[in-house]
Amino acid sequence: MTHGPLPALDALACPNCGGALAQDGRRLSCPEGHSFDLAKQGYAPLLAPGSNATTGDTADQVAAREDFLESGVYDPLMAAVAAAARTDAPGVLAEPGCGTGHYLAAALAADPDRYGVGLDTSKYALRRCARREIPDAPRRDPGSPGRLAAVLADAWQRLPMRDGAAAAVLNVFAPRNADEIARVLHPGGVLVVLTPRQDHLRELVDALDLLSVDPAKPQRTADQLGASFEAERTDELRYPIELARTDVHRLVGMGPSARHLDPGALAAAVAALPEPVTVTVSATVTRWRAKA
Ligand SMILES: C[S@@+](CC[C@H](N)C(=O)[O-])C[C@H]1O[C@@H](n2cnc3c(N)ncnc32)[C@H](O)[C@@H]1O
Ligand SMILES: [Zn+2]
Repeated sequence: MTHGPLPALDALACPNCGGALAQDGRRLSCPEGHSFDLAKQGYAPLLAPGSNATTGDTADQVAAREDFLESGVYDPLMAAVAAAARTDAPGVLAEPGCGTGHYLAAALAADPDRYGVGLDTSKYALRRCARREIPDAPRRDPGSPGRLAAVLADAWQRLPMRDGAAAAVLNVFAPRNADEIARVLHPGGVLVVLTPRQDHLRELVDALDLLSVDPAKPQRTADQLGASFEAERTDELRYPIELARTDVHRLVGMGPSARHLDPGALAAAVAALPEPVTVTVSATVTRWRAKA
């Protein structure tokens, strides 16, 4: 299979030595001679040495997330993240823990001159991310790069990105490594964090015994980020959605509860729900800037 140029290559760095990467066909290499072959599904494998990332979402979780997000019920969350990510700083939009790339694609659609870098430890998610179309973007000529690079990388290790290369970093229901985010963010850039509030999906949490949002979460987020960042703006989103039972199964299947619930008991509990069931979406989108 032939490979076109990887988008956003200038923003990426060798995971072994931090050097710049150049591309020759499907091979990326740095001046020190470290090299990495693009996966045939289009993502760049740039895991840090010694990283043993086993935390990525499974094929079933990723398929459930893709179908659920395609339904559009989280589009208002994506729009809020995209709006908060607008900045005059130079650089790419980056998202550690990007999953299928839906949020990044929405942010790139709102900011047509940017490139994006989605990083994740799940190869199943990256396959989708590498193929993701930017909504409403004109199709480019075959052979010219898209705008979104999918990168296999562990958010808890050094990210394979150049210092200051990101105009905005998105953090959406995903691991958050404040030091690395601060390093890759341009000094004028913004960090956009979406966190669920305690009443997020509360009707399903009650009826299906899902894991609930930890009440200490907002404080933990502030503690994690407060040393390096200052909150600049906060948007609280709360709205009802109507879900068919298939959507409920997808929503449960894409989240952390999927691994904890007995499938038989879950199926019975979903079958007992009204159809459609009205569910509350409730999240906070906060925009942070690096402290001077
Ligand atoms: C709940 S999903 C959110 C995905 C996406 N941000 C969204 O909201 O659609 C969490 C994502 O983090 C990824 N992930 C888990 N551990 C990770 C790690 N150590 N480094 C990078 N990604 C990780 C998972 O594979 C998954 O795609
Ligand atoms: Zn290198």
